[in-house]
Order: sequence, then structure tokens, then C-alpha cells
Amino acid sequence: MSPTRTSDVLVIGGGIIGLVTAWRAAQRGFATAVVDPAPGGGAAQVAAGMLAAVTELHYGEQTLLGLNLASARRYPAFAAELTEATGQDLGYRRCGTLAVALDADDRAHLRELHALQRQSGLESEWLTGRECRRLEPMLAPGVRGGLRVDGDHQIDPRRLAAALVTACERAGVVFHREWAERLTLARDRTAGVLTRAGDALGAGQVVLAAGSLSGRLAGVPEEVLPPVRPVKGQVLRLTMPERHGPFLSRTVRAVVRGSHVYLVPRENGELVIGATSEELGWDTTVTAGGVYELLRDAHELVPGLTELPLTETRAGLRPGSPDNAPLLGPTALDGLLLATGHYRNGVLLTPVTGDALAHALTTGELPDEARPFTPQRFRTAALTEQPA
Ligand code: GLY
Repeated sequence: MSPTRTSDVLVIGGGIIGLVTAWRAAQRGFATAVVDPAPGGGAAQVAAGMLAAVTELHYGEQTLLGLNLASARRYPAFAAELTEATGQDLGYRRCGTLAVALDADDRAHLRELHALQRQSGLESEWLTGRECRRLEPMLAPGVRGGLRVDGDHQIDPRRLAAALVTACERAGVVFHREWAERLTLARDRTAGVLTRAGDALGAGQVVLAAGSLSGRLAGVPEEVLPPVRPVKGQVLRLTMPERHGPFLSRTVRAVVRGSHVYLVPRENGELVIGATSEELGWDTTVTAGGVYELLRDAHELVPGLTELPLTETRAGLRPGSPDNAPLLGPTALDGLLLATGHYRNGVLLTPVTGDALAHALTTGELPDEARPFTPQRFRTAALTEQPA
């Protein structure tokens, strides 16, 4: 075994959540390291990058909405700071979103979403089918109505990840490009990580931010192991033509036969179509059925897209949690913190997660807005579920 190399903060996982945590920790003066074989990889290489606090609102997720909105509010300053720190374009596009309905059932569903948005004090405007097509002329003539949400934007997650790697490097974060094999403990507290290559990395505090893999790290005591599972998403990338006027000028989404489909047009001509949602464990196969369903549903929304070159098909794993919300901050094991379980909102929640973890690493506590997302909520639930 190599001799121990130590840092104040060691982050396991170099996806966008681990990287933002490391960047913010280094900015606070912690000697910070990240352990990951390929920093900047992970689910961000697949994600579409919608910042969709309003259009992805679900019943029963009002607490999560508060965190999503807090992060959405931070995005302009966060993107400006990261661009300033790295000189890199993040593909941050304040373009808004249009959620549309294709039939009477979809319209009823969208009306309910609109009511929930209004009850929650969110800005969204009901449009007729004709008004939707005036905004987005490529939409199918059969569109029955829609919701215009001017506050739901997008960023390019691949650029975001690359910029965070650069920002970390410039802030002095050390990268150990290897797999974390096991959490190491000493006298009932976190001591560091043993890597697959046999390096012992010591740390004052360890942040487990390994996305869907977070529940699998050896050495983590069972009672603090995060209840995170992989939820597969297949995503397509097409290229839009260069011509007068945009193919689509904003994110367009719908629920078709119960499945979510979204089309995210980037300024560089990429059109991202997502996403399936499949509970298939660690499988990341791109299937004919997945591609077919996405193209079938997207084609119903925007018939002209079948003319476009299909440039990439890929599948990633969302880190799902039992209540669809992230697990943030200190665990019951001294020195171990979590930043995982972001499920469908990892890109949106990147700024607020970085701030919350920096606060927790500095003070030992979560800031008020992040308190409901303590990992301890599952521990309490497990204890109260014990039979009498
Ligand atoms: N937030 C989009 C997705 O998870 O597919």
C-alpha cells in the first residue's frame, strides 16, 4: 500500500456534483482532493441540461421545489462566476420552455400541472395550440395547447462539467484519477479512502458524491449508506440545420402516452431528445425500443425532425432516491458527508449543492434551505418503521 496522502476534504466522485463541491470547498480554503478515474464524466455526459424547476414540478414535491427554485435563482451568478474563472462558454441559454399537449388527456394533465404551478406561486401561461405554433412553427398542427414557462432555461452539462474540472484545477484541487475502492475508518470516524490501485488517501472530511454508485462503496457502515439506485435514461442527439430562423427557439416538452419527452435545442445546433426512465439496475445499453419510443414521441411533437442527422445515442444512470430528492450534508458517521441522490435535477441543483456542502464542511451544519435534505431523514424513517 502506498503511504497516505492527506487533504482536508476528499470528494469521492468527479461528476458535476462532486466537482462543484470540491470547487466551493477549495474556495473556502480547504486543501481539497477528488478521487475519480475520469473527472467530468458521469451522468452529465448524457443529461440534456434542462433547468426545469417549474415544468418538472410534481405533486408531493413542494419541498424539493423550494430547493430547485433556490438553485435556479443562483444560476445566472453561478454561470457568470464559472465562466469568469475558466474563460469557458457553458452553453447557458435563457430561452424558456414550452410544455405542450397532443390530445385531450395530455391537455387535462397539463391543466392540472398549470393549477399546481399557480398554487405554488410559479409563473406559467396557458396558450392555445395556435399560440404555441406561433411561438414554435415546427410544432405539429395537432398540438392542443401548452404552457409557456419563460423561467425554465438550459445549460450544456458537458461544458459545465469541463468548466468545473478547470475551475477545480485553478483553485488547487488535487485529482486522484483512480477508483475509490473502500471508505476507511479510524476510531469510529471517517479516515479516508483506499483506492483500487492501493493508494491510501487520508482526509479530515470525506464527501460521497458518486451519483448512482454512491450506495455501493465498500466500508460505509450500513446505517449511513445512501439509499440511492440507478434509473436509466436513454438520450438522443441530432443536429439542426443552419438556416434563417431557429428550428426550435426554446425547450419543448410533452407527456406522450404517459412518457416524458423533451427537445432541447442548443445554440451550437445540437438538438437533445430525452429521455426514457427505466429501472433496470446498472444496464446502460442503448436499445432499439428506447430509440424508437423517443423518436416516435418527438416526431409527434415536431414532425420535421426526422429529416435531421442523428449523431449520438447514449444512456446514463440517474441517482434516484426514495423521495426523489437529494441527500445533502453530514451523516451519522463523523467526517462523512453526502452529496448524492439528485435524480432528475442534478444539473439544476449544482449551484445550491456546492453552496450547501461548502457551508456544511465549514460549520458542520446545513444552511436552512438545505436542511430538509439531510440524509438523516431516511434514518429517522427507518427507525419509526421498526415493528413495535
Ligand atoms: N430532468 C430530465 C431527466 O431526468 O430526464
